[in-house]
Amino acid sequence: MSKLKTIYTCQNCGVTSPKWMGKCNNCNAWNSYVEEIISTTKENLTVRKKSTEAALLLTEVVANSQERILTSDKELNRVLGGGIVPGSVILLGGEPGIGKSTVLLQVSLHSKSLKVLYVSGEESATQTRLRAERIGLINDKVFIYTDTNVENILIEADIIVPDVLVIDSIQTMQTALLESAPGSVAQVRESAQLLQQFAKKKNIPVFIIGHITKEGTIAGPKVLEHLVDTVLQFEGDRNYNYRLLRTLKNRFGATYELGIYEMTSSGLQVIENPSALLITHRDEPASGVSIAMTMEGLRTIPVEVQALVSPAVYGTAQRSSTGYDIRRMHMLLAVLDKRCGFRLGSKDVFLNIAGGLRIEDPAADLAVVAALISSNDDIPLPEHAAFAAEVGLSGEIRPVNKIDFRIAEAEKLGYTTIYISKYNSLEKNSRNIKIIRLSKIAELYHKLFN
Ligand code: TYD
Ligand code: MG
Repeated sequence: MSKLKTIYTCQNCGVTSPKWMGKCNNCNAWNSYVEEIISTTKENLTVRKKSTEAALLLTEVVANSQERILTSDKELNRVLGGGIVPGSVILLGGEPGIGKSTVLLQVSLHSKSLKVLYVSGEESATQTRLRAERIGLINDKVFIYTDTNVENILIEADIIVPDVLVIDSIQTMQTALLESAPGSVAQVRESAQLLQQFAKKKNIPVFIIGHITKEGTIAGPKVLEHLVDTVLQFEGDRNYNYRLLRTLKNRFGATYELGIYEMTSSGLQVIENPSALLITHRDEPASGVSIAMTMEGLRTIPVEVQALVSPAVYGTAQRSSTGYDIRRMHMLLAVLDKRCGFRLGSKDVFLNIAGGLRIEDPAADLAVVAALISSNDDIPLPEHAAFAAEVGLSGEIRPVNKIDFRIAEAEKLGYTTIYISKYNSLEKNSRNIKIIRLSKIAELYHKLFN
C-alpha cells in the first residue's frame, strides 16, 4: 500500500516543512523551497525484518582497522588516510569540469588489482571509453554502466561484485521510492542513503561524485556530508593546470590532507615537488616578492607572495588581493600603519599568491608583510629567505603550528634563512638554515634591510 505525502524541502540546506515558505528559517535562503512527493510504501517504513542484525556488544565487534584497499594513486591513498576503508562511502565534491570524473576513472583504470564498477549517469559508455583511452587503459577489470536508477545500479553491483563502486554523479541519480526530479535534495539524499546501506552491507567502498557550485551550496553534497564517511574536495583554478585534492572530513584519518596534481592531456599527474610549480625562478631578485612556508595537512607548501605598493594615481587608493583574504590584508596594512609608521593610506596595494593558489594558513602573514614593505621601499628581500609566522593586531609576531616541519622543508628546498616567531619552541636547533626569531613587526624591517 502506498501513501502519497507532499513536503517542501529547502534546496539549499535540506530542511523540510509541511508548507511552502518564501524564506528558509534555517539558512535564510529566499525562494528555496521545492515541493517533493514522497510515496511511503510499506517496505520503506522502518519495520524491522527478522534478518537485520541484533545489537552487539562493542567489545565483541571485530575491528579490521588495518585492512585498507590501496589504489594506484599514492596521493589519493594518503588523502584517504592510507587507502580506502572497505565499506566506506567517500564523497568527492568539486565544481563542474574540474576533473572529478577524470581522477576517479584514472584511479580505476590504473589500479590493476581492483575490479571497479564505474557508473556514469552523465556520459555515455562511448564517451567514457574515449576518455579512458586518453588516460590509458591499464586495468581490464573496469566495468562501465550507464544508468541513473539506483535500484538498477545496486542490482548490477550485486551481479558484478566489484572491489570499488564509483557513482558519477549523485545529482543524476534517482530512486523509485521518490517521485521528485533527479538532483533535488530529497532524491540526492535518498539515493545516497541507499548507496550507503549497500556499502555497509556488502563491505564494498563507494565513491560518490557530487557537483558543487561556486558558493559551495548546492542541492547535494552539503546535505550529504553527515551521511558519508569521508568528504574529499577537488579544486583548482581553471586558468591553471594543477588541481588540489583536499580532505574535508574523514572518519578514518586526518582531515586537511592535501594531494597535488597536474591536469595534462593524458590525465592527471601527481606532483611530488610543488615548489617547482609554484615558485617563479628569477635571474635577479625582485622587490615585493617573498616566500611563505604554509602547511596543508601534513604537507608543507612553499608559496610565492607578490605585492605591489605604489602611489594611487586615480584618487582613491585601490586594494586588491588574489588568493589571500582581503580583510586580512587590510588588517596587516593597518598594523603596518599603526605599529611601524608606514603611511600606505594613499597608496594602491595589490597582493597576489603566485600560481592561483588560495591560502588560508595564517602563517603566510609574515611573508605578506615582508612583501608589502619590500615593494613599498622598492628593495628586494634578502635572497633565499622564507617566512612562517602569524601577525597579530598589536604587531606581535605569533607562533604557528608545526614549525619544525616548515623549517625542515625550507632547509630542504635550499632556503638559507627563515623568519619565525620568537615564541615558537623548536624541537631541533642545529640546522643548516639560519633561523631569525622576531617578536614584533617593527623588528622585521631592521632584520631584513640592515
Ligand atoms: P572532468 O573529469 O570531466 O570534470 P568533472 O567530472 O569534474 O566535471 O574534467 C574535464 C576537464 O578535464 C575537461 O576540461 C578536459 C580535461 N581533461 C584533460 O585536460 N586531460 C585529460 O586527460 C582528460 C580526461 C580531461
Ligand atoms: Mg564528470
